[in-house]
Amino acid sequence: MNFPYKTINDVNVRDKQVLLRADYNVPQNDDGTISDDYRVEASLPTIKFLLERGAKIVVISHLGRPKGERNEKYTLAPVAARLSEKLGQEVKFIGDCVGDAVSVATKKMSAGEIVMLENLRFYAAEEENDRDFAADLAKSSNAGLFVQDGFGVVHRAHASTSAITEFLPSVAGFLLEREYVEIKSAVDDPNRPLTAMMGGAKVSDKILLVEKFIDIADNVIIGGAMANNFLKFYGHNVASSLVEPDIDETVKRILDHAHAKFGDKFDERFQIPVDVAISASGDLDGRRTEIGVEELANIPSDAKILDIGGQSIDRAVETIEQSGTVIWNGTLGYAEKPEFSHGSARIAMAMAKNTHITSIIGGGDTADFVRGWDALNGGSFTHVSTGGGASLELMAGDTLPGIAALMAK
Ligand code: 3PG
Repeated sequence: MNFPYKTINDVNVRDKQVLLRADYNVPQNDDGTISDDYRVEASLPTIKFLLERGAKIVVISHLGRPKGERNEKYTLAPVAARLSEKLGQEVKFIGDCVGDAVSVATKKMSAGEIVMLENLRFYAAEEENDRDFAADLAKSSNAGLFVQDGFGVVHRAHASTSAITEFLPSVAGFLLEREYVEIKSAVDDPNRPLTAMMGGAKVSDKILLVEKFIDIADNVIIGGAMANNFLKFYGHNVASSLVEPDIDETVKRILDHAHAKFGDKFDERFQIPVDVAISASGDLDGRRTEIGVEELANIPSDAKILDIGGQSIDRAVETIEQSGTVIWNGTLGYAEKPEFSHGSARIAMAMAKNTHITSIIGGGDTADFVRGWDALNGGSFTHVSTGGGASLELMAGDTLPGIAALMAK
């Protein structure tokens, strides 16, 4: 699949001052240090390409949700330091993202120089997609080109993803291009059979995606807390397991849809766990006990379902091994704890070791899990997305405002 928008490969960047939107919304430890710099790492190809060609880069990003107020907890200063380490060159940090200080600091940049501005979300105008704020960003940064490479944030219509493109010629960076091409190809033109695996905590967050996958996939596998809602709907006792309130109607609609699509192959092609792993005490540090779903009737009221069971895992692995493409969104159990990560780990293994499979991992928790599991930090998979909500929306076929605003090829 071709990327339909212009990229940094399509424009002359030599000596250009570039306003580069990255998504450096990185997880932090309590002391503010970065706990995972995958998003910084993923931004390097674009930055290096630009620097090698003599561009001058002004990087912008958000971090966290400071709600329009300056809050030192969310300063991007540590990210500038980390980027500097990775690049092996200074990344000067400027303590604001608009105004005189920025304008002065970016006025006389040299070819190959890079600076980073302070968190965009210290201004409410950013999330309001405010045109004046976008104009101010363009002006203060003295930029002549806007490069969107913050894939994780392109599902938001914000000043730095949407309105900014009214003020500067706007093209995509390599991360955005790669995310788009890998995800869209897997969804729109997959090597079949296509298997979609869905887990995580909530059905309501992923309802459109489940429906879309029923339409386009050859197999759909449901796990994680999402599966609890289906088990409950079927009348099983789920005790103290995580379920969503008022979700029965949605679950019924999904099941009707899946029955209509898969007909007499429903049980094989729409996989809801046939067995589960519980913590009988409900303690997340508790021991793993596997039981068939029929035995749920006898579990204590404090018990929690925290993973899919061995039989369900075997069935899923068999399906995966016969697939051409596997798209995975949402861990299949409480994967933070090794006791309850069996399902997710065996699935990750099946996807990684069968190299004929195009394996696409949605961002967020699933990406965190596979990168932790994989000695190659995700390199064992075709693509591990850096975007949570953005990858879900792209898979579901939505138009993402931060992509739609770029110049078409
Ligand atoms: C993300 O981490 O998913 C993106 O950076 C978007 O962040 P947001 O959900 O706060 O808009």
